[in-house]
Amino acid sequence: MKNHFITFEGGEGSGKSTQIKLLNNFLIQKKANVLCTREPGGTPSAEIIRKLVTQGDIDRWSPMTESLLMWAARSELVDKLIKPSLQDGKWVLCDRFYHSTFAYQGVGHNLGLENMKLMKNIVIGDVNPDFIIVLDIDPVKGIERTKNRSSAEDRFEKLDIEFHKLLRGAFLSFAEEEPEQFLVIDAELDVNSISRIICDEVSKRFNL
Ligand code: TMP
Repeated sequence: MKNHFITFEGGEGSGKSTQIKLLNNFLIQKKANVLCTREPGGTPSAEIIRKLVTQGDIDRWSPMTESLLMWAARSELVDKLIKPSLQDGKWVLCDRFYHSTFAYQGVGHNLGLENMKLMKNIVIGDVNPDFIIVLDIDPVKGIERTKNRSSAEDRFEKLDIEFHKLLRGAFLSFAEEEPEQFLVIDAELDVNSISRIICDEVSKRFNL
């Protein structure tokens, strides 16, 4: 049976959560059974890890510890929510997944893509999204957008712009490597246009 597992990726302030809500509404209209979740987080224990990694000083964690926390949160989410939901035939929409660890920790913090791929195999094996949507934005503009919301979860936003430029390049190169799996959208388009592109592509790919 074909899974319906869609992940949203992108830098800070790229508008992922808005687009997940809009795709969720669209799928509900189509009578789909949908689970929306996020990373890091999505289960009570993984949300505890989320607080640890998204808040506080930049150097609160070493890059390796930070990546292990991301993998720990992901292990919880995959085992307790994503796998059971897919087995129940639900659509799963996830705000970030392992491509974020590949980009932020593997490339941004320079832990190495190969190391992060090894971790992926150990922690979640062959659990892969069917479709990955990258909302692409100039990091200067993305970070500017995040300043309009007051959130304690600003640990990554505080990293310098060179770090955020690396992330953008990383997401774009993942999409280039596997063009069949990815859709890259200009996140500076207006919200409704982005949503239309996403809903059309999802309808086409999943025969809705
Ligand atoms: P969010 O802002 O998209 O909710 O994500 C929370 C933060 O966590 C965001 O700054 C990116 C970061 N993050 C990583 O560094 N690595 C990861 O694997 C994930 C899932 C998120």
